[in-house]
Amino acid sequence: MDKAELYRQLEEQARALAGGERDPVANAANFSALIWQMLPDINWAGFYFRKAGWLVLGPFQGKPACSRLQMGLGVCGTAAKQAKTLIIGDVHAFDGHVACDEASNSELVVPLQKHGIVTGVLDIDSPLLNRFDDEDARGCETLAQLWTLRTDDLP
Ligand code: SME
Repeated sequence: MDKAELYRQLEEQARALAGGERDPVANAANFSALIWQMLPDINWAGFYFRKAGWLVLGPFQGKPACSRLQMGLGVCGTAAKQAKTLIIGDVHAFDGHVACDEASNSELVVPLQKHGIVTGVLDIDSPLLNRFDDEDARGCETLAQLWTLRTDDLP
């Protein structure tokens, strides 16, 4: 299956899974499970939610991870602060990278944004170098937007 088809199927299944459910945690849990099942060569997929200057761990798949990341630091904190998707080909070359799972070599972080405000991030790690490209970024941005549109605000 090519990447375009993979992301088309991912989006279709994410829409079906969310259905009429508007709970942010329930949908984040199912979205991370779906990404985990469908994307090849990943070792972590999940959400961090913004709470008072921190990014706090939400639903995820993979090894236990850091519970709390600082806004502006690491890959997740930088993507959240800049409100920008980050594709990092080699996390070890990223200044301030937070190593939760030492198997991770590349990373894709997409900010979750509601009404122009960053409410968290969707984070995906891979054991391969340069695992993620623009097509992955656009596909995961679509999933992040879908999650935002389909869910109520976080408490
Ligand atoms: N590597 C991330 C931390 C989160 S874990 O990868 C799950 C970072 O540098 O922000």
